Amino acid sequence: MTEQRLPIVVLTGAAGRLAQHVRPLLAAACREVRLCDVRPVTPQAGNETAFQCALEDASQLPALLAGADMVVHFAGYPREAAWDVILPANVASVANLWEAARAARVQRMIYASSNHAMGLYPRATTVGSEDLPRPDSRYGVSKVFMEAVAGLYAQKFGLKGFGMRIGHCSPEPLDARMLSHWVSPRDLAQLVRVGMEADYDNAIVYGVSDNARTWWDNTRAHVLGYRPQDSADPYREALQDKVSSDPLAEHFQGGDFAAAEFNRDRSLFDVDR
Ligand SMILES: NC(=O)c1ccc[n+]([C@@H]2O[C@H](COP(=O)([O-])OP(=O)(O)OC[C@H]3O[C@@H](n4cnc5c(N)ncnc54)[C@H](O)[C@@H]3O)[C@@H](O)[C@H]2O)c1
Repeated sequence: MTEQRLPIVVLTGAAGRLAQHVRPLLAAACREVRLCDVRPVTPQAGNETAFQCALEDASQLPALLAGADMVVHFAGYPREAAWDVILPANVASVANLWEAARAARVQRMIYASSNHAMGLYPRATTVGSEDLPRPDSRYGVSKVFMEAVAGLYAQKFGLKGFGMRIGHCSPEPLDARMLSHWVSPRDLAQLVRVGMEADYDNAIVYGVSDNARTWWDNTRAHVLGYRPQDSADPYREALQDKVSSDPLAEHFQGGDFAAAEFNRDRSLFDVDR
């Protein structure tokens, strides 16, 4: 591909933890990478430029997205919080971003959804891309909202959507739950690459490494070309006893997010026996 044909990509949440894992890929594969964050972010590669703005401010977005081919959307509040935090950071921002991307004729939105969109499924259940969401938190609801927005803009306006229900991304898995839902930084970067190159209209996939204990059927990602290189399996012996003290957290895929504030009859879920 000649340099002229390489895409212009906007990376939101560029100052955050996960964005650092995809910046080298984007810098190598793109003509220009616009690093968007509400916090300052320092360009490192020659084709990176910084664009400091909050996605809640729709007036900033036409300039951010002008001429862009794709968006890799990682900005957001990444854990549970009250609605007055979640709504602006993860709902209004998403509505603004997709609407501005449509107006700018962006072709693809590759975005960070979360396992917490499905966190109220029991760990004994294998879930796939087509199963109904079961968010475990206000945060999880905001990810379901984003998936719905992506579906609308893909199916009605032709803006391709690639939603990654990310498990937990860190250099190594850290506890027993991550034996199921950990994703390595390089597998996450590979999945973003699949989102940039594969043929789809509106895809939901799981951001997870090749873990034997996975709760997820990730056929959709595999069909699109994802081949995870890493696995949490070698950490099994070291981590399998590192479980939550709360049986409810151990029962649900969402772990502590699912157990927090839970006030239904726990015996319904057979979790304390
Ligand atoms: N870290 C994980 O393992 C994990 C797992 C599942 C999903 N995710 C999702 O991946 C994304 C990135 O997660 P992270 O761990 O890198 O989080 P992070 O908090 O390290 O990074 C998020 C970045 O987004 C920026 N940001 C937040 N709201 C913004 C706004 N309205 N406008 C502009 N910038 C804004 C923040 O300043 C921050 O730099 C999040 O959407 C998170 O929900 C992360």
